[in-house]
Amino acid sequence: MCGIVGYTGFQDAYSVVINGLRRLEYRGYDSAGIVLDGQGAFSMAKTKGKVDDLVAVSEEMKGKATVGMGHTRWATHGVPSDRNSHPHLSNNGKIALVHNGIIENYDTIKIMLTEKGFTFQSETDTEVLVNLIQYFMDLNPETDFPSAVRYALNEVYGAYAITVMHDDFPGLLVVGRLGSPLAIGLGENEFFIASDASPFVEFTKEAIYLEEGHMATISMEHGVDIRSIADNARIEPAIQELKFSLEQIEKGGYEHFMLKEIFEQPKSVHDTMRGRLLVDTGIIKMAGIFDHLERFNNAGRIIIIACGTSWHAGLIGEYLIEEFARINVEVEYASEFRYRNPIISEKDVVIAISQSGETADTMAALKLAKERGAFIYGICNVVDSSIARITDAGSYTHAGPEIGVASTKAFTAQLTVLSMIALKLGKHNGTLGNAEFMSLISELDALPNKIEETLENTHEIVKEISKDFVNSQNFLYLGRGYNYPSALEGALKLKEISYIHAEGYPAAEMKHGPIALIDENMPIVIIAPKKGHYDKIVSNVQEIKARKGKVIAVVNKGDVQVSSMSDYVIEIPETSECFSPIIAALPLQLLAYYIAVYRGANVDQPRNLAKSVTVE
Ligand code: F6R
Repeated sequence: MCGIVGYTGFQDAYSVVINGLRRLEYRGYDSAGIVLDGQGAFSMAKTKGKVDDLVAVSEEMKGKATVGMGHTRWATHGVPSDRNSHPHLSNNGKIALVHNGIIENYDTIKIMLTEKGFTFQSETDTEVLVNLIQYFMDLNPETDFPSAVRYALNEVYGAYAITVMHDDFPGLLVVGRLGSPLAIGLGENEFFIASDASPFVEFTKEAIYLEEGHMATISMEHGVDIRSIADNARIEPAIQELKFSLEQIEKGGYEHFMLKEIFEQPKSVHDTMRGRLLVDTGIIKMAGIFDHLERFNNAGRIIIIACGTSWHAGLIGEYLIEEFARINVEVEYASEFRYRNPIISEKDVVIAISQSGETADTMAALKLAKERGAFIYGICNVVDSSIARITDAGSYTHAGPEIGVASTKAFTAQLTVLSMIALKLGKHNGTLGNAEFMSLISELDALPNKIEETLENTHEIVKEISKDFVNSQNFLYLGRGYNYPSALEGALKLKEISYIHAEGYPAAEMKHGPIALIDENMPIVIIAPKKGHYDKIVSNVQEIKARKGKVIAVVNKGDVQVSSMSDYVIEIPETSECFSPIIAALPLQLLAYYIAVYRGANVDQPRNLAKSVTVE
C-alpha cells in the first residue's frame, strides 16, 4: 500500500526521502512523488512508475532543502498517473499533502468545495482533503495551519495516514492517523516520519507510533506535539525503542528479498521458539497464552480470522488446536466475517493472524469481535502494529522484517506459534498426554535443523525442475489433512509472483471437478509425506497418471511408491504429521520463486499487490 516518508533536520531532505521511499517499495506502489520546503514556493516532482523514475525527473532537487516529504502511491481512486500521484497541492499552491488510505466521503466534500470555487486536477480523494485544509484557513485567517488540518480531519471519514506541509510555515510538518500506520523517528536534531520505521532505522532507534485518532506537529523549534484529532487534547508521547537493524532489512547478497527470506527460515523459526520452547524442562512459556489459559480452555470456540497466507496458517492452526486441545475452531476470512453479522459470544476467543498487523479487513473484523465482547488474541510479526496494539493479548512471531511481498518466513513462523499454542493448551487441559507432548516438543525443537537440511537439499533440484514449467499456464496443488492448506499456500505463492493460474485442492476433492482439467499439459504438485493419509494420496497419484498429468511430488526421503509414479520428485525430511506443512512450505516457496524468476517477473514486488493491505 502507499508509503509516506517525511523529514525535518539538518541532512539533505531529498536524499533522506528518496532513500526512505526505496525502503518502503516492498509495500507495493505504482507512482511516486516528493516535495521540498522551498523559499517561497515548494519544489515538487511526481511521476507514474517507480522511485528510479522519480529520481530521473527530480535529481536537481538534491541538496536544496532540509525539510521535505515523499510518497509511493498504490492506486485506489484514479488510475496510476503523474497527475494522480502524491503530493497533492491545494488550489493556492501553499499546502502539500501525502496520504495513505481512503477518504470515504470525499465526493460530498468535493461537491461542497466545487461550489465554493475550488478546482481539482486529479481524480483522487487526497486532493479533496488538501483543499479542505485550505478552505478552513481561508474561512478564518486567524486559523493556524495545524488547527486547519485538525478541522479538516474531523470532517472526513475512512482511513488515513497523512503528512502535510505549508509553504508559509517552513520547517513544520503536520501528521495525522486513523486506520493507517505512521511512525515518527526521533533523531539528534532531526525528525523522521514514515509508514513504518524502516526508512529511519539507520538514523535512530527511538520512535513514536502515532495512535489512532491522533495528530502531531513536528518542528525543530518545538519538537513533537501530539494532540487528539477530536478535541485537541494534548497527549504524552510514548517513545519506543526499535529492535531491528538496517542489516535485517537489506538483501544480504541474495538476488531478491524473497529468496533471502526463504533462506532465513531456519533462523526465523528458531527465533520464534527462542525462550518459549524449553525442551529440557518440558515447558512452553508464552506469556500471552500463559496468562489466559483458562480463557482459552473455557472458550465456547476459537475463531481464527485472517487473510491470504495468514488465513492458510489459520487453517493449519484449526487442525492443530482441534487435534491437541480438542477446542472447537472456526477459520474465517476477515473480509467475510466483518460483513456477515457473525454470531460472537463473550465466551469466544478470536485469534487474528497477520504478518503486517495492519491488514484493514483483519483489523475491522477484530474490532467487531471486540465490540461483541470476545477475547481477542493477536499473532503478528510487526511489533507495535495496529492489530498487535488492539488485541487483549498475543504472541509475536519474531520472524524479523519481511520485505518481499510474498509471505514466506512469516508463514512458517505463524505455524510455529500456532503449534506451540495448540500443544500448550492440550497439555494444560489434559487432552494431550505428557509422553506425546514431550515427543512433539522435541520434534518442534528439531525443526530449524530440518528446515536448513531441506533448503540445502532441495534448492538445486527445485531450481532445475522450475525451468520445465516456465511456460505453463495452469497448475494444480493437492494435499490431504494438514497438507491441504499447504496446497492452497503453494498455489497462492505461485500465482501471486509468477502470474500462472494455480489452484489448491484437498486431494480427495479432485474427483469432484478438477480432474476434468487433467491432461498431459497440467502440472500437479502433490504433497505426500509418509505420515498423513499416504495410501490415499497414492491412489490420487494413480488417478492423475492415468490421465497423463505431470506429477511433481513432495515426498519424504526414501519414498518409493509415489516417487516411482511421479515425473519429478522433491525429497524432504520426515517430521510429525502436524509439523509437515512447515517443511513442505519450503520447496513450494522455492518452486514459485524460481518459476517467477525464469519468467522475468518482479518477484519482490509483483504487479497489483501490496505488502500491507491497509484498505479493504
Ligand atoms: C501472500 C501474502 C498475502 C498476505 C495477506 C495478509 O503471500 O502475503 O496473501 O498474507 O495480505 O497479510 P497480513 O498477514 O499482513 O495480514
